[in-house]
Amino acid sequence: MSGPLVLGIESSCDETGVGIVRGHELLANEVASSVDLHARFGGVVPEIASRAHLEAMLPTLERACAKADVDLTEIDAVAVTAGPGLMGALVVGVAAAKALAFALGKPLYGVNHLAGHVAVDLLEHGPLPTPCVALLVSGGHTSLLLVDDIAGVRGRGIVELGATIDDAAGEAYDKVARLLGLPYPGGPVIDRAATGDPRAIAFPRGLTTRRDLEKHRFDFSFSGLKTAVARWVETRERDGLDVPLADVAASFQEAVCDVLSAKALAACAATGATNLLIGGGVAANGRLRALLAERADAAGVTLRTPRPGLCTDNGAMIAVLGAEVIDAGGRPSAPDLGADSGLP
Ligand code: KG4
Ligand code: ZN
Repeated sequence: MSGPLVLGIESSCDETGVGIVRGHELLANEVASSVDLHARFGGVVPEIASRAHLEAMLPTLERACAKADVDLTEIDAVAVTAGPGLMGALVVGVAAAKALAFALGKPLYGVNHLAGHVAVDLLEHGPLPTPCVALLVSGGHTSLLLVDDIAGVRGRGIVELGATIDDAAGEAYDKVARLLGLPYPGGPVIDRAATGDPRAIAFPRGLTTRRDLEKHRFDFSFSGLKTAVARWVETRERDGLDVPLADVAASFQEAVCDVLSAKALAACAATGATNLLIGGGVAANGRLRALLAERADAAGVTLRTPRPGLCTDNGAMIAVLGAEVIDAGGRPSAPDLGADSGLP
């Protein structure tokens, strides 16, 4: 596979990622995570994340070049997450990318982190049949997108069909894990703990009543679910009963995955898209992948799921998105590119 040799830098949250791709071919994907430093606070502490990015950036860059067996001077372009994310974390990556592009005399492409979560699939499954529907489920975002052009250059680009009106799916996992006394990040922990009966407790499915669907057909809500789990646990404890972790985790997880998969397939039906792609940290979830596979199959929709290691934040997703922007004829960013924590 040919294409431009692009180095991608990611630093929007708690992972410092440097990836190198040639077109759709993955050459290196090195990630340094500060997740352990945040664990005792139950969530990401922005100042700690920024400092960790500063410390990890150059060693991660060096590891990526060594892994790809690439000399920096061979790179055709530098891509970087310009937003959305934590401001203090983003600026570290943007500063590093600008310095690198300037020193090498190569073009710089500031790209959208969320589009990167979708684009990463190209590394595994090749060109994206468009239009397709993408279900983006991370710690900070949950949305359903109609993707015409992942580079955002041609046609309608990326259209948001719906999004969460309160907590993101990953945030719900993290908060519920916390109230169950489980460590951060809660997603993978609940995924593993959910060995019980998913029908043991009937937790609410947000925004799925007929009335809700009229206004919020493709939107999500997870804060009511989180409160329902908290109430259920409180009541058990007040009554002196044990909390069956495996059942609570499985029932909570089922409520999240049921709504995510039902709305994703409804979006495919409504738009006529026959390909559904999932991305973001929660896309690594075993139950979500299984339920989507089952429902996509029944609906005649092709499901594209990147391997779990590519679903969480990494530099390769930014590099491949940069390669797509170049391929689509997108213009490089100005040398004074800034980070935008609220990038839509
Ligand atoms: O995309 P990501 O790495 O970072 C953001 O951009 O937010 O997503 C992190 C989120 C966290 O909330 C984490 O708990 C969740 O993804 N997550 C999972 C799993 N692995 C990570 N949630 C459910 N099941 C998993 N296996
Ligand atoms: Zn992310």
